[in-house]
Amino acid sequence: MKTFSLDVLGGPWTRRLAARREGLEVDWGHLAHEANAEQVATAREVWTRTAFSEYASGACFAEISSALLAANAPIDLVAAAGEFVADEMFHAELAARVATALGGAVPLEVDVTKLVRPARSAKPLVRAAELIVRTCCVGEALTVPMLNQSRRAAGSKGIEAVITRILRDESQHAQLGWWFFDWAELHDGEREVLGRLAGETLRAFTVLFAGECRRTSGLGALDCAKFDGEFLRAVREEVVGPLAERGIVVPLHDVEELIAAAA
Ligand SMILES: [Fe+2]
Ligand SMILES: [Fe+2]
Repeated sequence: MKTFSLDVLGGPWTRRLAARREGLEVDWGHLAHEANAEQVATAREVWTRTAFSEYASGACFAEISSALLAANAPIDLVAAAGEFVADEMFHAELAARVATALGGAVPLEVDVTKLVRPARSAKPLVRAAELIVRTCCVGEALTVPMLNQSRRAAGSKGIEAVITRILRDESQHAQLGWWFFDWAELHDGEREVLGRLAGETLRAFTVLFAGECRRTSGLGALDCAKFDGEFLRAVREEVVGPLAERGIVVPLHDVEELIAAAA
């Protein structure tokens, strides 16, 4: 474990990343001028955790792009997954900038050698499917509506602009999953395993998301009232429904456990 930090090397490498910031106009000095101290303190923690989860999402897409290569997947899909690593590094940078502008990141102990849960199958196509169901069809598919909700409650033009920029990429990150499953030829038994894996992933999110709702909303944070209802709607409509359309059935008890946890 080490304290989470981000670094840049500079020169052409920073310029490549900075090119993604084009068109994004944020008054970094006035992100929180209408917020109270509790909102700012909460937001500093939320944006520090966001920077880390964006970094971890980058690791997931690095793994997905290798798995897609090994599965001889269509090259445009492989290229997209590779580009998504850079998207996530850009999101990590943006989140870190927000945390800095709000007064600084909070210390976060992390293990960067264990960012991705390894796939279990020996078959390359199923390995890719496992990684994609967890990252794109569950994680990213839930990120999009929750970010929309955070943007509505932000109360800061600058934070709204940052979330809007992140959302522009995240919806494609979720889409990669649906396009992959429309393309991949999988057996019924494999789809069954993937359904259980999606259920496991959803249950893990209960713990994670339980810590994500706060006493106050604003600046990117969501209070429990604004969080829970939208999260459960998204689970049903953005994850369980679209997976079922592709023959991947999430066990009912996993969804029920999630609903019970939020109640
Ligand atoms: Fe992201
Ligand atoms: Fe993403």
